[in-house]
Amino acid sequence: MPSARFWIKSRPAWPEESPPSHPGMKADPSQPRFPAGANSLIATHLSPDLYRSLARIRSKSGFTLDAAIRSGLKNPDSSIGIYAGDSDSYACFAPVMTPIIRDYHKINDTQGHLEQFTPVHLSNPDPEGRYIRSTRIRVARNLKDLPFCCHIRAGERVKLEKRVIRALEKLPEGLAGDYISFNSLSQKDYTGLVQKKLAFPKGDRFQEAAGLNRDFPLARGVFLSHDKGFRVWVNEEDHLRIMALESGPDLSAVFNRLCSGLDALSPHLAFAFDPELGFLSSCPTNIGTAMRAGVHIRLKKLEQARDTLNRIVARHHLQIRGTGGEKTAVNQSVFDISNARRLGVSANDIIRDLHTGISAIIEAEKNL
Ligand code: ARG
Repeated sequence: MPSARFWIKSRPAWPEESPPSHPGMKADPSQPRFPAGANSLIATHLSPDLYRSLARIRSKSGFTLDAAIRSGLKNPDSSIGIYAGDSDSYACFAPVMTPIIRDYHKINDTQGHLEQFTPVHLSNPDPEGRYIRSTRIRVARNLKDLPFCCHIRAGERVKLEKRVIRALEKLPEGLAGDYISFNSLSQKDYTGLVQKKLAFPKGDRFQEAAGLNRDFPLARGVFLSHDKGFRVWVNEEDHLRIMALESGPDLSAVFNRLCSGLDALSPHLAFAFDPELGFLSSCPTNIGTAMRAGVHIRLKKLEQARDTLNRIVARHHLQIRGTGGEKTAVNQSVFDISNARRLGVSANDIIRDLHTGISAIIEAEKNL
């Protein structure tokens, strides 16, 4: 596999996309129209007056409200419909961001970010290995001095990738591995890695409309530790998606590995952070801990008793996704169950909630 050094010399293997009109360079003073039936948070919270008061504002890197809401406008079935173009977007567009954040994260104005990423020791929730297929925990991180991925220019993406590669070289032995630049791969090799879930695919229509696919695959890549249990995605929806994963149910091992990776990388990368909002991400759904901790779990009986499953999931602040992740269906009774809360709760609380919730779900599945 090509290593980090490979990247510098490699030339794009694919024809480059025609240069896009850069998002957010001109505020459109006409009122955006959300189609009837759109009930995304942006459609709900952006009143005509609010739009007019924010339409001409530019963030420090030149991002505008028109650029922020393009995905929500283009995709009426969005659930949120707004993205941040840089860390400053959260302050610039606070009059619309804040109600959306409160609504989505179900917090009030006294709740804010809680820090805590310290090693945990939790019992094995599935000692016989009958239910849990795999465990994966990721955090989103962005560098504070570069525009976020829907607004970043090609040269800045390249700069970011180089910085990340330098930081990855500092990882301790147990986490060390190789960086694979998508640019250095043939289309066939890249597709093979996506199929094996070792590389991320080009973004979906929501991300496309937000500008997140611009210049793909330029400066995108994945870092894989030698045992593949620690990974970093570069320049996907966020500058970085840092994750730990393994097949099996050992939540503590996965979480603790993620903590070590974060401890090793954080001194070398200045992350976008706000004392109230926590780590800032492209999508306001991911701020706070920016963490999603989940398992793939096979629940043949609870699949037939969805009300019971939904009740346990809600009680433990969890959410259900389909087998293939966000906006996908459940396949062969394998559910993706992960934390619903990211802001106003610490990473350690999230992992404990997941542990007690998954234990309760396994108990209920056994008893059915
Ligand atoms: N923008 C999409 C929507 O509003 C996705 C939101 C959450 N998911 C994400 N990957 N950021 O429905």
